[in-house]
Amino acid sequence: MAFLMHMSLRKQDAGIFIGSVLWLLLSCSFSFAVESDINCLKSIKASLEDTLGYLNSSWDFSNNTEGFICNFLGVECWKPDESRVLNIKLSDLGLKGFFPQGVANCTSLTGLDLSSNQLNGPLPTNIDHIITFITSLDLSSNSFTGPIPIKLSNCGYLNVLKLDNNKFSGTIPPELGQLGRIKTFSVANNQLSGQVPNFNYASITADSLANNPGLCGKPLEVCRSAAKKSSIVKVLNSYNVGIAAAAGFGFGFPFSFCFFPSKSS
Ligand SMILES: *[C@@H]1O[C@H](CO)[C@@H](O)[C@H](O)[C@H]1NC(C)=O
Ligand SMILES: *[C@@H]1O[C@H](CO)[C@@H](O)[C@H](O)[C@H]1NC(C)=O
Ligand SMILES: *[C@@H]1O[C@H](CO)[C@@H](O)[C@H](O)[C@H]1NC(C)=O
Repeated sequence: MAFLMHMSLRKQDAGIFIGSVLWLLLSCSFSFAVESDINCLKSIKASLEDTLGYLNSSWDFSNNTEGFICNFLGVECWKPDESRVLNIKLSDLGLKGFFPQGVANCTSLTGLDLSSNQLNGPLPTNIDHIITFITSLDLSSNSFTGPIPIKLSNCGYLNVLKLDNNKFSGTIPPELGQLGRIKTFSVANNQLSGQVPNFNYASITADSLANNPGLCGKPLEVCRSAAKKSSIVKVLNSYNVGIAAAAGFGFGFPFSFCFFPSKSS
């Protein structure tokens, strides 16, 4: 009897012990996540120039009640009383500066909208480590420059990627065509050139690619180099090469004029 009581007490002790260890672990990781999200917003606020004072008046970090950041302008949390940020929507607030790298510390973030501000500079090349789980990224109508980072193609949860109305240059990385969940992709009104990727999982309209100086390929016009090749193939197919060769100089002259117009000017 005494032995059994002893056993059950020890079991109870063990239960309490395991319980408190679990509780400690959970609360540690919980408060860690919260700290991290608060740091994220602090860092975003610090890195942006808030020309109209919206963040200055709304993002007040002095009130430390749990979930206080969930009332900030443009911040949505998973639960209103838990400081875990779900979405950040800071469209059209007169914000200036570079892409805020502090976003990396909002580790549960699924949506980031910084559209219609005056953000500039290139996007970080390691953007896949900053917005790993994001489903919607809207950076449209800013002044971002430089290339579209190849590593965006590692952000496999992206449904919406809006980069239109910026100053992005270079080619659209072909790897972006592999994004398996993409529904909306827009890069209109930039300075992009080269071949449009083959999007395997989205139908991209010409509108979403419009007004770039050198984009080509489906759904836009066929790329020049490909077009040249195919027209040469057509010429070779439509003329009998044997006859053309036999005709000699008489045919050769206009042909050389066609193929090397720069020589004649
Ligand atoms: C921020 O807001 C405070 C009062 O809320 C004001 O005194 C201060 O001038 C503002 N700072 C800027 C940079 O707008
Ligand atoms: C602090 O934030 C909580 C939750 O947003 C709010 O209910 C409370 O009134 C705030 N307290 C102060 C002093 O601003
Ligand atoms: C995330 O927060 C940690 C701790 O506060 C900080 O050291 C780190 O620089 C932050 N990361 C970014 C990308 O700002």
